[in-house]
Amino acid sequence: YLHQEEVVAPEYKDLIFSLPKESGRVASSLYKYQGFWHPVRHLQGIITCQRHFQARGSDFILITTPKSGTTWLKAIVFTLMKRMQYPISQDHPLLSKNPHDLVLFLEHRLYVDNEIPDLSSMNSPRLFATHIPFSSIPKSMKDSRYKLVYLCRNPKDTFVSMWQFCNKLRPQESGTHSLGETFDMFCRGVSMAGPFWDHVLDYWKESRENPHKVLFLKYDDMKENPTVNLRCIAEFLGCPFSNEEEESGMVEEILQLCSFGNLSNLEINRSGKLSSGEDNEAFFRQGKVGDWKNHLTIEMVEKLDQITEQKLSGSGLVL
Ligand code: A3P
Repeated sequence: YLHQEEVVAPEYKDLIFSLPKESGRVASSLYKYQGFWHPVRHLQGIITCQRHFQARGSDFILITTPKSGTTWLKAIVFTLMKRMQYPISQDHPLLSKNPHDLVLFLEHRLYVDNEIPDLSSMNSPRLFATHIPFSSIPKSMKDSRYKLVYLCRNPKDTFVSMWQFCNKLRPQESGTHSLGETFDMFCRGVSMAGPFWDHVLDYWKESRENPHKVLFLKYDDMKENPTVNLRCIAEFLGCPFSNEEEESGMVEEILQLCSFGNLSNLEINRSGKLSSGEDNEAFFRQGKVGDWKNHLTIEMVEKLDQITEQKLSGSGLVL
């Protein structure tokens, strides 16, 4: 996932090796493409996707900053959209598959290793996910009547979650990423799909200009007010809850099925692997707001807060 050997396809070599690079001593190197940093495998996926993805006006795309709750959002939107086909029951797909195997990432799963998948036979509305920054989303998507649900999270928890995740996925013999070094890189904008703040701001601006196309969500708000946010997603995607559904408690049922406690305790997520090989349990750690307090020093907190204030100033966005 993040530590794959840096194999670059011949047709991408000239382009990729001309890009600014940050050598990863402990993780894979990152390359700066169209203003954002990506591991080489994801980058090739992004470029292939830009060249070949044919958007449909009916597509729904979930876009997130890494470690902002993508797994949760995938579970919620999948369950919501497919509630007629898959009513909540003992054989609901989420009980036997990790959300990442139900809603596939464009650049890590579909357009990966130079594959060009045939997505034309998928029934509409199609549902995909991605971390691709706004400036790099495929042209066909920008030209279509797309609907994007964007999710981000406060930068301190995002950073801690990412640091823990990278350490979890790396081969044991290679040791752990130092917190300090990873932090300095994150602050300089050098992180997967970073700079974090630019990723968030570009989608924030788009959501302000085109609110019917981009729904902007925050993990922290979703944790605080899950029912309000779920109703809002349902409205935005054009599948609001009917009175009967509301009365039957469907909103709460979906949230219960997709809750951290429920998903992280399922056998499939405790001991299973994704079809792409990662351990499912790596996507479930604590699922709480504020774990940064247990990891960051006062200086780190001050520095991140200061960067965030400066970057978001005047945008109307508070993280
Ligand atoms: P922590 O590392 O802070 O626990 P992503 O899905 O984008 O990779 O983000 C992972 C983060 O979302 C992790 O945060 C993980 O524990 C949390 N998460 C996973 N499933 C969740 C759920 N169903 N509800 C809330 N948070 C969840």
